[in-house]
Amino acid sequence: MAKAGVTRTSLLVLLVVLFVKFCASDTGILNRKAAAGGRAVSEDGRYVIVFHAGGVFTMVHVFRFDENANLLKINGSLEVFHQAQKTISSYAEDPAAILSFVAPLLEKAIYAVPTNLQPETPVIFGAYDELYLLGEEKYEKILDVVRGLFSESPLLYKAEWVNILPAATQGAYLWESINYLMGNVGGDYSKTVAVLNQESASVQMAYAVSAKAAANAPKFPGGEEYITAHHIQSNNYYLYSHGYFPFGAYSVRTAILKYTNDSYTYCVTNGYNVQYNYYGEMYNVRAAPSGSSYEKCRANVLQALHLDATCYVENCTFDGAWNGGGGAGLEKIYLTNGFQNTGADVGITTHSKPSTDLRLLEYEKFAKVACGASTFEDAHNLFPSVPLFDLPYLCMDLVYVYTVLVDGFGIDPTKLVTAADSVPYGDSSMRIQWALGLALELISSNHTKMQDITNVFAPSRTFVQIV
Ligand SMILES: *[C@@H]1O[C@H](CO)[C@@H](O)[C@H](O)[C@H]1NC(C)=O
Ligand SMILES: *[C@@H]1O[C@H](CO)[C@@H](O)[C@H](O)[C@H]1NC(C)=O
Ligand SMILES: *[C@@H]1O[C@H](CO)[C@@H](O)[C@H](O)[C@H]1NC(C)=O
Ligand SMILES: *[C@@H]1O[C@H](CO)[C@@H](O)[C@H](O)[C@H]1NC(C)=O
Repeated sequence: MAKAGVTRTSLLVLLVVLFVKFCASDTGILNRKAAAGGRAVSEDGRYVIVFHAGGVFTMVHVFRFDENANLLKINGSLEVFHQAQKTISSYAEDPAAILSFVAPLLEKAIYAVPTNLQPETPVIFGAYDELYLLGEEKYEKILDVVRGLFSESPLLYKAEWVNILPAATQGAYLWESINYLMGNVGGDYSKTVAVLNQESASVQMAYAVSAKAAANAPKFPGGEEYITAHHIQSNNYYLYSHGYFPFGAYSVRTAILKYTNDSYTYCVTNGYNVQYNYYGEMYNVRAAPSGSSYEKCRANVLQALHLDATCYVENCTFDGAWNGGGGAGLEKIYLTNGFQNTGADVGITTHSKPSTDLRLLEYEKFAKVACGASTFEDAHNLFPSVPLFDLPYLCMDLVYVYTVLVDGFGIDPTKLVTAADSVPYGDSSMRIQWALGLALELISSNHTKMQDITNVFAPSRTFVQIV
């Protein structure tokens, strides 16, 4: 009973929905003397421009900070934000065509920055990690088009500032954004909140650990760094962060469907029968004749999490990843993006206020209702807010959210956690977006020259000492 338009869903199209966040921000080098044009720099502040190229939207943020990395308004708002409903990954065969939407976004961002400050305003372009699936040759061609455009702009630009943002780094910058906006930065790491984020291709966990825990962190085969050092305003934090691929809202469907490619799945609505195309890989989606089942779907999801994967250290989450050892930085948990959006679709959370406190048991409760729906129409009547192209997968999606958080990350299902879209800030509120964290870190850098900052996309484990 696949509905028209639902068959042969291409992930390239579907992935888009979750990518509504971004941020951008400013640059560094504030001269104390009056800048060209006669305006004192301290009054103008420092600007940072951050592009977030996502799976549905390409977005640009302009942030402005004072000398102490406090956000300043630009023209009355906390950021200048523009977006185009285009994803760069659709242009693998004709990369130059991305200029039709990236160039106008750049123009709008430049317009927000006073002319005299443009040469010291960094412009960063972070693309979503799913771009990796195109292969290096293709995604580098796309990024090169951006590099060409930026190099001709009046802004401060470096080729390595245009790149794919790895999931773990994205998690760390989200952590910075939330904790900065909440006013937690400046206090002890134990006063900060942890972030669990779901994107279309990955899920991420980020939280602060003590300096001692950071120093004692285990070494991993392949040299993967789970702990990185971050300097925000004048404070140092060690962050555990890790990204799990393909465990995002859309990619995980393939990880689950893989096990039932030659048989039936108990995770989709009764009668559903399509092929799911994910970057050229085909997955058969055939509903079991008896319809969806919470218990049977959950068994399949548990299998996909690889809970018994080889764990090189104590304390693994799932898929063989280290959990960071836990601690005070993991006490308060914020759920963002897909986790929050899936909740809002079924009424566990809401977009009408910045955040909702809930227990993960709620996801389980609604998963049982969704898996119990006997037809597509039933499911639609029960959950009218769920987009029609996601509805056949609602049982799977809710079972997955519950299972990855409880069995994967090990969160007690009765613990109170917070799902959030935004954080109240001053007289307004700011959407939670990694771009702000990236901008903050650039602004807070010790480097006397912005141009010296190279590790924007892969923060290191130690703090940089500038001599
Ligand atoms: C400031 O806002 C006004 C009114 O919305 C707009 O016309 C103007 O272009 C904005 N200026 C900048 C620099 O963005
Ligand atoms: C699923 O089965 C189809 C044949 O029905 C095959 O073409 C496809 O490659 C299989 N997909 C995976 C991921 O195994
Ligand atoms: C594992 O967890 C225990 C208890 O939280 C902790 O004492 C230990 O340091 C952790 N080890 C690693 C490698 O995370
Ligand atoms: C900046 O310098 C201070 C003082 O030397 C140091 O404590 C801090 O770790 C440095 N921050 C970074 C990001 O290197």
